[in-house]
Amino acid sequence: MADQSFVTLATNDSYVKGALVLGSSLQQHRTTRKLTALITPQVSDIMRRILEKVFDEVILVNVLDSVDSAHLALMKRPELGVTLTKLHCWELTQFSKCVFMDADTMVLSNIDELFEREELSAAPDPGWPDCFNSGVFVYQPSIETYNQLLQFAAEKGSFDGADQGLLNTFFSSWATTDMSKHLPFIYNLSSTSVYSYLPAFKASDCNGCSRLLSPELWTSLRKDLSWLFGANTKVVHFLGSTKPWNYTYDSRTKSIKGNMDDPKVVHPEFLNLWWDTYTANVLPLLEHHGIVKETTTGVNMAEVTEAMSHISVSEPSPVLPTVSSEERKERWEQGQADYMGVDSFDNIKKKLDTYLQ
Ligand code: UDP
Ligand code: GLC
Ligand code: MN
Repeated sequence: MADQSFVTLATNDSYVKGALVLGSSLQQHRTTRKLTALITPQVSDIMRRILEKVFDEVILVNVLDSVDSAHLALMKRPELGVTLTKLHCWELTQFSKCVFMDADTMVLSNIDELFEREELSAAPDPGWPDCFNSGVFVYQPSIETYNQLLQFAAEKGSFDGADQGLLNTFFSSWATTDMSKHLPFIYNLSSTSVYSYLPAFKASDCNGCSRLLSPELWTSLRKDLSWLFGANTKVVHFLGSTKPWNYTYDSRTKSIKGNMDDPKVVHPEFLNLWWDTYTANVLPLLEHHGIVKETTTGVNMAEVTEAMSHISVSEPSPVLPTVSSEERKERWEQGQADYMGVDSFDNIKKKLDTYLQ
């Protein structure tokens, strides 16, 4: 299956971490397809070399940015303009068919069956289910489609200022025509609060349901509706502004630190799984390249960040809304420190130094 590939995108070193976890999860579940990563010049050379260890192809593309701050502000995600860079995936005409996956997704089982689907197949968006979520989609590379998409973007823009709005308008028949292009939700399950329909998610828990249904009925229901429930999740999508790499993980307890009360963390088990994969498969690569120091006590995100700050080309910080110091304290206490920004190791050290003087 050399002419089919999974494809992802990373425009900076933080998203490369996500791409590495995604790539290694696909390998772990023995995909027979190629792995391709699109990167932009902001990705550091060393992270590019590490990507090449996991991905068959790492391809440099230029940034496509919508700079549509008005629409992006509506989503409170000013950083997402660059996601139009995703469109480059249609240029990969060395492949007959591809599955694009956001760098903040990871697979929990083999999903090669997705290559049986046609363009454009995707799962519903949890925020607006008549739209598809563009974090996982099956497509057919074509320069003609790529050019049409660019022209469409230039003429009509995108209703969310980013790729999802554009792709939903371009592939507008998705909502109403061919059901085979509607992927089950378990192929793109949002791990955060957006997916709050816990009864359906937990329906795979036999103990809970046996109280409501007879065991026979439950067994047959489980079989017939095997695509329906959370335990059958095939792809987790860490959709939203806080990504797995923004949390701190304690490898001794094998859990993320201090977020148990965070209402956004509906499924800490998925976050822990991301970190398990990161620790087992990605950290050794980073250590091998001297990016993180080997530690006996576990992974300390501040340490990772400190080491990375030496090798990363500094990222221009996205135009984020100003956060009050009260809000910042609250986020910090919830374990959502802005490690790459105001709460970086360097800034903390500077502050400590002022006390020592
Ligand atoms: N992305 C990137 N750099 C960025 C923002 C996004 O490379 O600064 C890519 C990455 O593949 C990411 C995808 O675009 O997974 C979509 O963005 P994100 O996952 O942050 O959006 P969400 O799924 O949270 O809406
Ligand atoms: C969505 C998708 C993501 C996309 C972004 C911008 O929620 O999860 O893949 O890049 O919005 O359109
Ligand atoms: Mn995403």
